[in-house]
Amino acid sequence: MAIPGPVENDTSIRLDLRSWNEVEDYLHSCKGIILPIGSTEQHGPTGAIGTDAITAEAVALEVGLRTGVLVGPVQPFGMAEHHLGFPGTISLKPSTLLAVIHDLVLSLAGHGFERIYFINGHGGNIATAKAAFAQSYGTAKSIGLPVASKLRCKFVSWFMAPSVFREARKLYGDREGQHATPSEIALTFHLEPSLLQKKRPLPAPAPSGAINGPDDFRRRYPDGRMGSDPFLASPQDGASLLNKAATDLTEDLVAFLEGQ
Ligand code: NI
Repeated sequence: MAIPGPVENDTSIRLDLRSWNEVEDYLHSCKGIILPIGSTEQHGPTGAIGTDAITAEAVALEVGLRTGVLVGPVQPFGMAEHHLGFPGTISLKPSTLLAVIHDLVLSLAGHGFERIYFINGHGGNIATAKAAFAQSYGTAKSIGLPVASKLRCKFVSWFMAPSVFREARKLYGDREGQHATPSEIALTFHLEPSLLQKKRPLPAPAPSGAINGPDDFRRRYPDGRMGSDPFLASPQDGASLLNKAATDLTEDLVAFLEGQ
């Protein structure tokens, strides 16, 4: 399918700023769309609750700018059951998230979108998303959607992009940790400078380990961090990580749209 190509600003790629007839025109040449998905959950004592949604949306819009592919509104709620021991966390149960992703995919597939590319900011969403895709393919076939045999969904976590992973290791080593990581916090500092007011040195974090229910999580990780030192984060790192994420994911998206 034709990939539209780079655009100057995000007003032409944001689905929420398009009209229905513009989307219909778009579908004549491109049947791909990017959907950012995050989570609304604690990110340690110095990180924003919206970190995973803010970062996923920013990476998605940057990939959209570089490709001209439409970007849907961010889905801000994810599967964050294990973070519910901390105020401000809002979680969808896995079964709810599965239903949400299924319905998003079916809505778009019903209009003729064939390639749905999720850019994800939260590791806890991954297993459920894969299950939701399997269910979506089954539904598309069973209701006889015209695109059923061509429908493909992909779920990519920006923080696992190879060059992001390498850069985070280089910048932060073991202090990257597993949750409330300096790399994701750096991205939020770059995107929302007011968050720098929260930055302060923290005591050594609890080491990364098992993830069970919310009470156990809070007992193991009393301040919400898993082995991370977000004090290392800077807005400059965030700008660099955003660029690396967008570069890797742009390449991956193009291959996804052009592939079988
Ligand atoms: Ni996060």
